Amino acid sequence: MSRKTETRHGGAVDDGVQLSRRKFLEFASASPLLAPQIASTIAGLSVLGTSEALAQSYDVLRAAPVMNGDLIANPSQALNVFDFEPVAKNALPPAHYGYLASGVDADKTLQANRDGFDKIAIRTRRLIDVRKIDTSVKIFGETWGSPIALAPVSSVGAFNSEAEAAAARACKAKGHQMILSTVGSTSIEDCIKERGAPIWYMLYPTDDWAVTQLLVARAEMAGAPAIVLTVDRQGGRNTETLFRDRRGDTRTCTDCHTPGFANEVSRKPMFDNIDVSKVTNLYGTGMTWDYVKRLRSIVKGKLVLKGIVTHEDAKTALDYGVDAIIVSNHGGRAEESLQSTIGVLPEIVTAVNGKIPVLIDGGFRRGTDVLKALALGATAVCIGRPYIWGLAAFGQPGVEMVLTLMQREFETIMRQVGATKLAEINGASVTRV
Ligand SMILES: Cc1cc2nc3c(=O)[nH]c(=O)nc-3n(C[C@H](O)[C@H](O)[C@H](O)COP(=O)(O)O)c2cc1C
Repeated sequence: MSRKTETRHGGAVDDGVQLSRRKFLEFASASPLLAPQIASTIAGLSVLGTSEALAQSYDVLRAAPVMNGDLIANPSQALNVFDFEPVAKNALPPAHYGYLASGVDADKTLQANRDGFDKIAIRTRRLIDVRKIDTSVKIFGETWGSPIALAPVSSVGAFNSEAEAAAARACKAKGHQMILSTVGSTSIEDCIKERGAPIWYMLYPTDDWAVTQLLVARAEMAGAPAIVLTVDRQGGRNTETLFRDRRGDTRTCTDCHTPGFANEVSRKPMFDNIDVSKVTNLYGTGMTWDYVKRLRSIVKGKLVLKGIVTHEDAKTALDYGVDAIIVSNHGGRAEESLQSTIGVLPEIVTAVNGKIPVLIDGGFRRGTDVLKALALGATAVCIGRPYIWGLAAFGQPGVEMVLTLMQREFETIMRQVGATKLAEINGASVTRV
């Protein structure tokens, strides 16, 4: 009769079973055919440091770092990018957090961006060797290691004193591209230095053509291969969440924010040494397609339009020689349209018909969101608030972890749809819910 032996986990294992397992391992290790395989499998499972081993074999160990209270205390404790938001909220003055969090009106378009992803399901494929995958994408002749880039965000210094420089270093460390805002807190020269490679420059043109020309020339001289004209801020906006949060801020805003355009942009390095005395509007009042034509004539590199959300405008952009489009509603902070960017992406992709790259942003928080956009024809995606949450919470390491988490999730779902490279993600990878 065989004896039962108590295991470490309190279960009972039959001695006979243990004996036969030992015998099998002795046999296997003596076999020239099986020994190397067994050794490598065991070695593979033992390397707990690799995300692959953790994800595939040791799920239970992933959440091991212990948290005090509800907030993560360092980036390594984050399970997803949402974990950074409450830490950022805690770290920021109410008005600055409100500026980051705000959509417009009732924030319904902000919410629509997220909800849009839930209307698309992913079709997974089996029995495809996906051990090696390649997430690189080529845009304007440059190879990006990942299709996830940082969207332009204004006044990043309001969220962390190292501002865009820290974000640029994170991009360098993790192999991502970024776009700098005209009203960023760091100059394009410094950003490019920190990233160690050219970045894209997002243009708010102002209503003074002389200023526009100087901004474009400076960005191009610094090495920016693409000028991104944002076209979705023409109509004004009602950022109610910001206004509400600001009421809870006891500081005197005018200590830093001196009224008047010249005073406000005097703190923005991209306006250094530029005469802004004739500027009345940052966003370029009354811009039309003629303006795009005029800008096209001075931009030496690539011209990108950010904020396109209809097939009509996408087609016109092609007619005006635009080199790429960023489908965007400014993260739900331009107008309360109730349209999600992922929802309008297909009509833009159809209109563009592969002629130019189509990028997209708005509510991207998960690797699965990225996969859905690429499946619907996007070339790459940008993230806004998540990297600012990471930055406000922990500086550069926070941004790095946000990028790591999104990239890791993206690689995981890429494997599950059986794609070894981005070109293998296509319409068959998704379905409507
Ligand atoms: C605080 C903040 C400031 C922003 N500033 C700019 C800007 O200066 N120029 C611009 O084109 N878009 C700006 N955006 C929009 C982002 O580029 C991007 O479209 C949006 O954040 C993407 O949505 P997400 O935040 O849900 O990822 C800003 C967004 C936020 C949250």
